Amino acid sequence: MNAPDGLPTGSEKARAVKGMFDRIAGRYDLVNRVMTFGMDVGWRRRTVRELRLPGRALVADLACGTGDLCAELVGAGYRAVGFDFSHGMLANATTSVPLVQADVLRLPLTDGTVDGTTCGFALRNVTALPDLFAETARVLRTGGRAAFLEAAEPENAVMRAGHSVYFKRIVPLVGAVLSDRAAYGYLPRSMAYLPPGPELVELLEGAGFIEVALIPLAGGVAQLLVGTRR
Ligand SMILES: C[S@@+](CC[C@H](N)C(=O)[O-])C[C@H]1O[C@@H](n2cnc3c(N)ncnc32)[C@H](O)[C@@H]1O
Repeated sequence: MNAPDGLPTGSEKARAVKGMFDRIAGRYDLVNRVMTFGMDVGWRRRTVRELRLPGRALVADLACGTGDLCAELVGAGYRAVGFDFSHGMLANATTSVPLVQADVLRLPLTDGTVDGTTCGFALRNVTALPDLFAETARVLRTGGRAAFLEAAEPENAVMRAGHSVYFKRIVPLVGAVLSDRAAYGYLPRSMAYLPPGPELVELLEGAGFIEVALIPLAGGVAQLLVGTRR
């Protein structure tokens, strides 16, 4: 991947991302709730709903952080296991779901062993999206479902302008007051890592998924990429 806008790539990015989440873990959930006006809760619920798997299906939550999606998965009747490389995030989790410290680009799972995967707000944070999609495809059984939730920039010009002011000016301020200035200054900049929607769809299809769809949420400030393992 080309280095967007002077942002780190490769192992330098992985180190920076891990260190940043270790640092902000203690207040991560609080800042999320404040910054999204609580909408992130509904977005995670929708992510889990889009799996449409049978009850008791086994779902791996990739880059689980403090485990919010894991809790939603259990609430929906699924069996869940979370994976994240940040010890700080895992240590601040309150879910009873088993959590494993691991790189989601090299999951400690055998091929085709899970029925579903979820992944919240981590597409920007991995070092290579094709590697994440390939690893997701590897661990899913045929017919398994994947759902990736991520921030987005609205297409509507008015919404886009308002969102830009909020995301680039207000969010870093709120983050600086409640948590860590550098981390929440990085957050809007990290959007530069995200390819446009059609490219995301193409990448997931190229990794072996069918029925791929990109669903805009809350007027396009968030997006949900879903697909079925071929
Ligand atoms: C923005 S947080 C999202 C946490 C959680 N999924 C949520 O919905 O709140 C991004 C997470 O991705 C994790 N992460 C980034 N790259 C990773 C990788 N290669 N392996 C494992 N975890 C990774 C970070 O440690 C962090 O916890």
